[in-house]
This record gives sequence, structure tokens and C-alpha cells, in this order.
Amino acid sequence: LIRPLSFSSLKKNIMNILITGSTDGVGKLTAIQFVKEGHNVFVHGRNKAKTETLVEELRNINPESIVKAYIADFSDLESVKKMSKAISKEVEKLDVIINNAGIFNSPEWLSSNGIELRFVVNYLAPYILTNTILTLLSSSDDPRIINLSSAAQAPISTGAILGQKAVSENEAYAISKLALTMWSFYLAEQHKNITTIAVNPGSLLNTKMANEAYGQHWSPAEKGSDVLYDLSVNKEHLSHSGDYFDNDREAYARAHPSAYNTTIINELITLTENIISK
Ligand SMILES: NC(=O)c1ccc[n+]([C@@H]2O[C@H](COP(=O)([O-])OP(=O)(O)OC[C@H]3O[C@@H](n4cnc5c(N)ncnc54)[C@H](OP(=O)(O)O)[C@@H]3O)[C@@H](O)[C@H]2O)c1
Repeated sequence: LIRPLSFSSLKKNIMNILITGSTDGVGKLTAIQFVKEGHNVFVHGRNKAKTETLVEELRNINPESIVKAYIADFSDLESVKKMSKAISKEVEKLDVIINNAGIFNSPEWLSSNGIELRFVVNYLAPYILTNTILTLLSSSDDPRIINLSSAAQAPISTGAILGQKAVSENEAYAISKLALTMWSFYLAEQHKNITTIAVNPGSLLNTKMANEAYGQHWSPAEKGSDVLYDLSVNKEHLSHSGDYFDNDREAYARAHPSAYNTTIINELITLTENIISK
């Protein structure tokens, strides 16, 4: 008896994609786009109920896709470590990691380890997650890491990061996004087999983050999910590892000058390793 092949097994190039912060905004739209095309999507949320609702929605969109959820509050690095270990154990192979989860406004200034909250959620959490699960990318033919940067990028301030210097929410956010961009370029240099790209998905997209932070938006959220999809699948981007894609210009562009300064990047990596080893 010959077992009929399912539609999905006949389709070629099914990818395994991890998208953090997929319960809302750009991350959610990107997850929907991949699931519609039959790819397998590992979603992440901080809120269990909201994440379960998303999983149900995705499974209804395409029952052929494998959808699995991971829960972690990225302001708690122990929770990030647990999630990273669970993914390492349960997932065999990843083709794309989209480090999308992010925060701008927050009632708390510091996380439980005394570090500025945006720096923890937007930079330290993806740093730990990605480094823990990096080997899962090694069996992909075309592995990619897409890191969500921003047009807002401000020089690293150790005082602000350690909660010793008062800065605005805007500056704290911009510091975290430059840190993520600098680390993206560092990763690209360290791992030549992986395409690592930092991307500004577009400024003031119509999401919870932009509407809460600025009370307005300039572009539909789909502008962001379309570019994340393109950066994940389009062969054109393979020659751009270690680059910054600015979706406000719809082109590769120069990031903040610090992102090209090896001394400043190495100082950031040393600071990062010091913080996370405590
Ligand atoms: N919107 C823009 O104009 C814009 C511009 C430049 C860059 N970006 C970047 O694009 C990415 C997506 O942003 P968005 O606009 O789609 O924002 P969003 O709609 O607010 O979605 C953010 C996602 O991150 C999750 N998240 C927030 N704090 C978290 C935490 N402590 N632990 C775990 N997950 C957490 C949220 O979970 P909940 O669903 O539980 O809230 C949500 O899934 C972010 O990195 C952002 O910085 C956005």
C-alpha cells in the first residue's frame, strides 16, 4: 500500500522559522505570512493566553504548517535562558531566527537584574537566545538571522545601561537598538556561514508600540512584515550579511557610525558578557 504524500511534503523549501514577539504587530503579521505559505513557525510570547490564541489562529490559517509556541518574559533573563534551552532540545533545525520582540514604553525602568529594561528586552534577551540556539542554524542550507533595529540608534552609555544615569525613554530605546545593530555586525563577522542582517522595519508602523509611544503612525504594519519576509527568503540579501537595511529608504544604508567601530563593538561585547555572566 502506498501512503499518499501530503501536500506539504510535496512542496519544496519548507523552512523552519523562529519569530520572537509574534503575539502582536509586525511579528504576528510575519508569522501569518509564513504559515500561509506552509512554512513551520516557532512563535514566542510573554503572555501564555495571548500566545495560545495566536497558535490557534495560525493553525486555522494552515493546518499543514507546524506551529509551536514558546513562552518567556524577555525582561527576565532566567526565563530567556529556559526558553533557549527548551528550543535547543526540541527543535532540530532552524533556517531563520527573527529577533523581533521589543519594547519602548514601560512602567518599570530597570529589570530584576538592575539593568535598563529596554536594553534587557531588546538586546540582551536576543543575544542570549541566539547564542544558545546558534547550532540549530548549522544544518540549514541558507541560515539567516534578522535583527529588528530602528532608525533610533544612540551611542552606548554604560551609565544608562547600568541604571546609574538618567536618560529619556527614547534614548534608552535607541541605545538598545544600536547595541543590537552592533552585535549583528559582530555576529556576521564571527559566523560567515550565516546571513545576519539588522533592519529598521520602517518608522512609526501601525502597531501597539508606535501608537503607544508616539500616539500616531505613518505606515501600515505590513510594511514591516513584508520586509522581514523578504529578508528571510530573498536570495538578493545573501550578499548583505553584516549590513543594515533601512526600510524608511527601502534600501541598505549606513547605520550609526559606532556600528562600524571595532573597538566600540568589542567594548559592548565585553560589557554584555560581564552582565550576563552575573
Ligand atoms: N512599530 C514601529 O514603528 C517600529 C519601528 C522600528 C522598529 N520597530 C521594532 O520592531 C519590532 C516589533 O515591534 P512592533 O511595532 O510590532 O511592536 P508591538 O506590536 O508592540 O509588538 C512587540 C512584540 O514584542 C513582545 N514583547 C514586548 N515586551 C516583551 C517582553 N518583555 N518579553 C517578551 N516579549 C515581549 C510583545 O508581546 P505582547 O503581545 O505580550 O505585548 C509583542 O509580541 C520591535 O523590536 C520594535 O522595536 C518597530
